[in-house]
Amino acid sequence: TAPTPDQVANLRTLRHDFSHLLMRHRFVIDELLTKISILREESEHTHSYNPIEHIVSRVKSPRSLLEKVNRRQLPLDIDVVRTEITDIAGIRITCSFIADTYHVLDMLTSQDDVRVVEIKDYIANPKPNGYKSLHAILEVPVFLRSGPTPVTCEVQIRTIAMDFWASLEHKINYKFAGEVPDRLLEELTQTAEVASQLDRRMEQLHAEVHDGEPDSSA
Ligand code: GTP
Ligand code: MG
Repeated sequence: TAPTPDQVANLRTLRHDFSHLLMRHRFVIDELLTKISILREESEHTHSYNPIEHIVSRVKSPRSLLEKVNRRQLPLDIDVVRTEITDIAGIRITCSFIADTYHVLDMLTSQDDVRVVEIKDYIANPKPNGYKSLHAILEVPVFLRSGPTPVTCEVQIRTIAMDFWASLEHKINYKFAGEVPDRLLEELTQTAEVASQLDRRMEQLHAEVHDGEPDSSA
């Protein structure tokens, strides 16, 4: 049967609200990327040291947002989605050294307009599979026509070694659709340990080389 005018109107509103939601999450990424690049440039300027290797960001695609809504058995309601799904906007920052990851997180979260919703320290407390990263759910005001609107963003901060491991693990999981053979799981957990060792040794080397130099910690 033909959709009623009400149904059509509701669908239009839903579609409009969802595209506005995704747009707001693009804005929060812009805000945070600006903050991060200011910190990066200023570190470079003041300490001749750049704690950040690279940065990637993404807004969840409508499809993967819907997948997550279904997986979590949430209603297709804009306010529920907005508050329950905190990784619609995502930024991943890769640093050279472990100390840098904490330092970058600290510099971000100490800003007045950044509200920390949640921090998960998987570096201090790795996941059972060996996954390491700092995760922060941050809320930053986006200045819309209607005024400042808080929008959340998931920021993942990790070292190059952690990132290398996580991207391989992700690919393997994807390839086996979650049913990864035990042998590979074991191998992955072992390589996570090798990656941690690399991080520790690189950090020691770095500290040795910069020992006694002013500003080497920043
Ligand atoms: P979702 O996994 O997003 O539903 O949220 P959660 O509540 O489990 O949050 P968590 O902080 O554990 O993970 C959020 C994100 O971190 C994931 O979407 C991945 O991008 C990344 N992540 C978490 N665990 C792993 C892991 O074991 N391997 C890899 N490669 N990435 C992970
Ligand atoms: Mg998860």
